[in-house]
Amino acid sequence: RTNITIGLFGFGVVGQGLHAVLERTPGLRARIGRIAVKDRTKARPLPAELFTFDKQDLLDDPGLDVIVELIDNADEAYAIVKQALLNGKAVVTANKKMLAEHLPELIELQRSTGTPLLYEAAACASLPVIRNLEEYYDTDLLASVEGIINGSTNYILTAMNRDGQPYAEALAKAQALGFAESNPALDVEGLDARNKLVLLLAHAFGLVTGPEELLAVGITGISPLAAAYAREQGLSIKLIAEARRLPEGGIAAAVLPTLVAPGHELSNVHDEFNGLVTQSGFADRQFFLGRGAGAFPTASAVLSDLSALTYGYRYEYKKIQQNAHLALAPEAAEVD
Ligand code: HSE
Repeated sequence: RTNITIGLFGFGVVGQGLHAVLERTPGLRARIGRIAVKDRTKARPLPAELFTFDKQDLLDDPGLDVIVELIDNADEAYAIVKQALLNGKAVVTANKKMLAEHLPELIELQRSTGTPLLYEAAACASLPVIRNLEEYYDTDLLASVEGIINGSTNYILTAMNRDGQPYAEALAKAQALGFAESNPALDVEGLDARNKLVLLLAHAFGLVTGPEELLAVGITGISPLAAAYAREQGLSIKLIAEARRLPEGGIAAAVLPTLVAPGHELSNVHDEFNGLVTQSGFADRQFFLGRGAGAFPTASAVLSDLSALTYGYRYEYKKIQQNAHLALAPEAAEVD
């Protein structure tokens, strides 16, 4: 194993989580060399000389091997990742919004620069879904992927349904626990799940699509009456992201609040946990379950990417050659 020196962008919930998990992972010889942050007024729990306010200090430093991008702003993140790849520095990011908005360019940049970009932490935090969808099902034809892929909304729905907590209180708690996006509208409007679905579609089916092409409905429109009805029927309302290969060709994909029956794997996914059910030709049905938000679970996926870089792993995007296309759901296609 080689030694890796990391240039870290951002020192928020996940950045601090990464620092903590690296301290406790002596087997992976990786250390944070420098951290670029924006806010000059914030007190930092680490020595001041580790921090810089100038992103070039990291991007131009030949002593830093890998850029780990964990900032909030998607446009700034894109500029950082692009420059890092052009400078030949491998990148690990958790920024699903940035990835979903720029995936075609980022795939091309990896190809033209020969420099890898890994983002296991960007979808379902601790669950190893990206690499599994990319690698494991490469030869086993996937029929569908459906899951709970936003921790905050699942936390809110669980708190409302199981504990009878009011929506605003549940949301405030999801924010306080570091699960929600800094703009929680992204969570509750289903847009964070939609960004993650873009990533799942690329790795599960080789379908590269923009987030705006996908239908997404969040949880803000779930009325107390609908929630009470679900409870009475013994059902749970979950925010489900789904992508399904249609028999007539094409992939149907959407993020929608859905009534889930008690026997379904996803009905038992509570709090900030995420769950993903895959259905494929030979493996049949499989279920991934784990923590989908929070400092340590997200940092664990960043750590796993850092480890993968040390053995030369990169995404090949092989399924893109299959020319999958987005299709309307069959029911929707019938309406004229
Ligand atoms: N806000 C996101 C969520 C964080 O709640 O799932 C993890 O991606």
